[in-house]
Amino acid sequence: MKLKTLILGTALTAGAVTMAQPADAAGRLNVICSADNEWCELMKNAFELEHDVSVSMVRKSSGETYAQVRAEGANPKLDIWWGGTGDPHLQAAAEGLTEEYKSEKLDELQDWAVNQAENADYRTVGVYAGALGIGYNNELMKSKGLPAPKCWKDLTDSAYQGEIQMANPNSSGTSYTALATLVQIFGEDDAFQLMKDMHPNINQYTKSGSAPIKAAAIGETTIAITFMHDMVTQKKQGADITIVSPCEGTGYEVGSMSIIKGARNLENAKLWYEFALSDRTQSIAEEAGSYQVPSNKSARVPEDAPRLEEVKLIDYDFAKYGSAEVRRALLSRWDNEIR
Ligand code: G6P
Repeated sequence: MKLKTLILGTALTAGAVTMAQPADAAGRLNVICSADNEWCELMKNAFELEHDVSVSMVRKSSGETYAQVRAEGANPKLDIWWGGTGDPHLQAAAEGLTEEYKSEKLDELQDWAVNQAENADYRTVGVYAGALGIGYNNELMKSKGLPAPKCWKDLTDSAYQGEIQMANPNSSGTSYTALATLVQIFGEDDAFQLMKDMHPNINQYTKSGSAPIKAAAIGETTIAITFMHDMVTQKKQGADITIVSPCEGTGYEVGSMSIIKGARNLENAKLWYEFALSDRTQSIAEEAGSYQVPSNKSARVPEDAPRLEEVKLIDYDFAKYGSAEVRRALLSRWDNEIR
């Protein structure tokens, strides 16, 4: 109800969605969404207001979505995959599971979003970006007398036994970004040693990437490894959380979007694609409590969005860590040595 009021309010006051309904747009669209649920719902509702298309939507984490797209390869049931970290979108592109499409809006996008498209021969594109961080619950940290972590390496301290939560990198793109980030900072062997040393401190490997900071917000874990913008969402809802940008530097995601190869509702998938890249659509993300940096240069950047230029970012190699070979090898090493 609240969501609908927000969307309608935006539509009426800021002109964020128009009621124009192209004649060729009637029909259906099957969307799989790998961003947070509230934003997925906002997107669906805003799109249906703008187009005469009925959207059926499911939310799944990035790695899980990749697995579904791959499994359905010859007989796709999905039309478009919106959101989620860029690496599995790149892997799907390299495996020919997504459709080449050059948007008329490419010129309006940030370089990192266009690079993502170029790396995939235009089988995906960047829709938002955000950096990874460490978040902790201030009250729990204080009551347990724990030292405040400042660096990735600090997370191996035995004082944090059972205090840290992160997602499983197989299902979660957030956690795969963390895995690839540690490998890029420390080198593969040292990164795996760090994750082994950190393992006794992990109380749960969740399915979805943002779950750990939601758990920290309600006191179910002290420390969480997630994207910083997901921490901002919790803080804005009143959680007492500190956001740490790790001292060694950190990785980031290019949240992406891809049309599924063989999509049954291809024209409607293209309508969604253009809708999702527009500055108007990207400007309403904040209404769903999403604080990523938008890919359209003209979209409003939420005031509280962590600015990439203010974080010590590594030069994340998206092409390498999104390649099928490297992603598969790192995940299988994680399964064998960590889990
Ligand atoms: C959250 C973040 C998104 C990210 C997504 C990945 O929703 O807000 O920026 O793309 O997580 O989800 P996953 O469950 O695959 O880690």
